[in-house]
Amino acid sequence: MQRSSVVVGDFPVGAQLLLVGEGPGATEDEVGRPFVGKGGQLLDSLLAEAGLDRGSVAVANVVNCRPPGNRTPTPAEARRCTIWLDRQLQLCAPSLVVTLGLTALRWAIGSGVRLRDMRGAVHEWRGTRLLPTYHPSAALRFGPAGEPMAMLRADLKTAASVLS
Ligand code: URA
Repeated sequence: MQRSSVVVGDFPVGAQLLLVGEGPGATEDEVGRPFVGKGGQLLDSLLAEAGLDRGSVAVANVVNCRPPGNRTPTPAEARRCTIWLDRQLQLCAPSLVVTLGLTALRWAIGSGVRLRDMRGAVHEWRGTRLLPTYHPSAALRFGPAGEPMAMLRADLKTAASVLS
């Protein structure tokens, strides 16, 4: 076993928004909470820009343990873990789920889906609403002038307006 923590997620009481990422990175594995590394800091600032307080937002991941070397979880790993995420979704019963990146979108929709076909729009889904967007790590990779940053920023604003 290579992970230090099982990162279960943050579930503030009464959260209306659930963000779903891929899986813990090195910092999350160390701290035991989701999105607390560089991607998390970016996420927090874009949430604040959109008028959303991270402390009131539920945050979870497709897998709860950091895959070795920070690789993308395999489909088998994702399948084994999503029993937890599916139950968290049920218990949290958010008004809106925002998936961050392709792994989370595949959890929601299935393996054939493409991010560009669904991102930025609000879809009726499992008795709630789904808004797929880019993962903060893509926004960091392409930089402040890149499309993922602009799209993530815009989509979190859409999320805030759906919830207001
Ligand atoms: N990336 C994710 O997908 N989830 C985290 O919790 C941290 C980084």
